[in-house]
Amino acid sequence: MNEILSAKDIGISFGSNEVLKSVNLALNHNEVLGIIGPNGAGKTVLLNILCGILTPTKGSVIFEGQDITHQKITERCRIGFGRTFQVPRPFEKMTVLENIMVGSVFGAGLTEKQAKKKAMEIASFIGLDHRLTWFAGKLGLLERKRLEIGRALSTDPKVLLLDEVGGGLTETEVGSIIDLVKKVKANGLSVIWIEHIIRTMLEGTDRILLLANGTDVICGLPQEVMQSKEVREVYMGNEDK
Ligand SMILES: Nc1ncnc2c1ncn2[C@@H]1O[C@H](COP(=O)(O)OP(=O)(O)O)[C@@H](O)[C@H]1O
Ligand SMILES: [Mg+2]
Repeated sequence: MNEILSAKDIGISFGSNEVLKSVNLALNHNEVLGIIGPNGAGKTVLLNILCGILTPTKGSVIFEGQDITHQKITERCRIGFGRTFQVPRPFEKMTVLENIMVGSVFGAGLTEKQAKKKAMEIASFIGLDHRLTWFAGKLGLLERKRLEIGRALSTDPKVLLLDEVGGGLTETEVGSIIDLVKKVKANGLSVIWIEHIIRTMLEGTDRILLLANGTDVICGLPQEVMQSKEVREVYMGNEDK
């Protein structure tokens, strides 16, 4: 079995708002799976279910063959999940190094000395080794995004969940985030990457899943999905009818 993480028949409602009806997905080992879908489709909700912030109304989340649907977020962090948030939320009054260390100390249970060494390695990996002593609040947007990824990596995850890390960046900056995600993959991680920017999905993923109307509408190779009638219908209405 090549799947590291899968979601089976996931549904969730908030009051009468049925956001997800039935979602199935499978993330393979060392794969980057892109998730696209209109605003409000439930992409962030799905990520929150995968990492344990939300519990689904129905369905299950399977990680390395084990049902983790009801496992707490702290436990999932320990067994191998890292995630970024759509709006980066670093500790503004802490330095870049301290921000990364927090994850290693509390998430991965390292001593302060071990965590510092690890945080320096991560800072170098995400290209922020020249900013170690800066307060996070002083960083520009691209650097905040890099730090957000660094924080997610600080617990040594097997699966990295990215929620629109490319949002708000310039064309060149988007290119550098694509390169960083490729580096993460080259290090053996599996990634789920939600993004609106078409280029990130075409250049940075192995497969793309379209989430719309509460379900996984289509999943396949990036080019195929982007050119599919399903994507055309969801984003532009069905012109062929
Ligand atoms: N914790 C929550 N409580 C109630 N409704 C929520 C909650 N989180 C998300 N929603 C609703 O779920 C829907 C999907 O939101 P979201 O997953 O953020 O969409 P997107 O695909 O843009 O990331 C929205 O209608 C939102 O209002
Ligand atoms: Mg979202």
